[in-house]
Amino acid sequence: MSDLVERLREIVGDVHVLVDPDLRAPYETDWTRRFTGTARCVVRPADTAEVAAVVAVCAGAGVPLVVQGGNTGLVGAGIPTGSEVLISLTRLAGVEPVDVLESQVTAGAGVTLENLQRHARAAGLDFGVDLAARSAATVGGLVATNAGGIRVLRYGSMRAQVTGLEAVLADGTVVSRLSGLAKDNTGYDLTQLLIGSEGTLGVVTRARLRLVPLLSGRAVALVGLASTEDALALLSRARDRLPGLAAAEVCYADGVALVRSYAGLPAPFATAFPVYLLIECAGRTDPTDELVDLLGAAGEVGDATVASDPAGRTRLGTYREAHTEAVSAAGIPVKLDVSVPLRELPSLVAQLPPTVDAVAPGARLVVWGHLNEGNLHVNVLDAGARGTEVTDAVLNLVATHRGSISSEHGVGRAKARWLTLSRSPAEVAVMRQIKMALDPAGLLNPGVLFSMGG
Ligand code: MLT
Ligand code: ZN
Repeated sequence: MSDLVERLREIVGDVHVLVDPDLRAPYETDWTRRFTGTARCVVRPADTAEVAAVVAVCAGAGVPLVVQGGNTGLVGAGIPTGSEVLISLTRLAGVEPVDVLESQVTAGAGVTLENLQRHARAAGLDFGVDLAARSAATVGGLVATNAGGIRVLRYGSMRAQVTGLEAVLADGTVVSRLSGLAKDNTGYDLTQLLIGSEGTLGVVTRARLRLVPLLSGRAVALVGLASTEDALALLSRARDRLPGLAAAEVCYADGVALVRSYAGLPAPFATAFPVYLLIECAGRTDPTDELVDLLGAAGEVGDATVASDPAGRTRLGTYREAHTEAVSAAGIPVKLDVSVPLRELPSLVAQLPPTVDAVAPGARLVVWGHLNEGNLHVNVLDAGARGTEVTDAVLNLVATHRGSISSEHGVGRAKARWLTLSRSPAEVAVMRQIKMALDPAGLLNPGVLFSMGG
């Protein structure tokens, strides 16, 4: 072990190998405090060559690795279990000049989403993925988890933004495809294989990313509704009539009440509603009028408020965006992230409270999500020792609705034992064959995606 640490120090420099427990601690627990473990040491390489050398040394010693970006993941995939070397990629924070002609940019795995957005906007473009953890979430983590967020409706998830990757494989080999060609049918698409692989097939070190037009005209509406069915009806109208539709986020009365007390916000409307839909429109010109016209003509709208100035948009957005923080401030939740076909969504929403109550009486359910993708974030507070039972009950319920046990957060360690609820035995067998082909010794993120024993 000390020999390994010595060799790692030679690669990255003494100060970038953290052995002291106090220095390791911030890397060993996730920000929601749900996952914690111990790493042999934390290694902080500066570039791809150092990552490759670190991986090769660990592979030579047969020592497993855990890969971590901004530590904002929600399924424990970046948290060690005890025997691993943890590679933190935050020092790979270089970003190349924006290629305006191609509308692309190459960014290091450690570039934060916020810095990427700032960089793209300075060149008159924008990045298509946005999510609340933008100040810490990194490009490498976004790629490894195929992150989604609030603009999937308009631009798709990370998969749709990545034109190429550079990655270090389990034996230290570097594979690189950063030319960003719009068309390239020369065999297997290794880039797409690595996206969403949660660090189990390779360590992403750089990404070639597609950029989108920078849209300065923006308007946001917060709408009060009577039911999930009404929210879906309004979504359907919005998709039909609002060419600039950029986001449609759903939340419910309990969650909005929690956010209000956490953030000190006033009630959004004179009357309380069971369901709220946050609609965002974006275009080269101000889309406020088309949004107001749509809402005025939609019978299902109970009440609505619209803002187009930045402060007003942020104020309305907070009712939705502060859900994660408000829940975390209230306790350590069971966090589930599921999706079902849209026509199944109302019945799933109706069945969640009795399902949770049956296994964890008195637990508090907070649900919100990305309506267009049928993606609900199911958070359960005060489940006590019943967290596994809650997870099992909710994920089985989702499976009966032909849904996914992880819509956008990934499988990680948290959901590995439930993978077969979403994937057939044949699919899991192929996935294991791919893992065997690229990481035969099982050194990259062991226990992530596939449960250790099963
Ligand atoms: C969200 O959309 O709010 C995120 O996926 C984070 C979360 O579920 O807590
Ligand atoms: Zn989300």
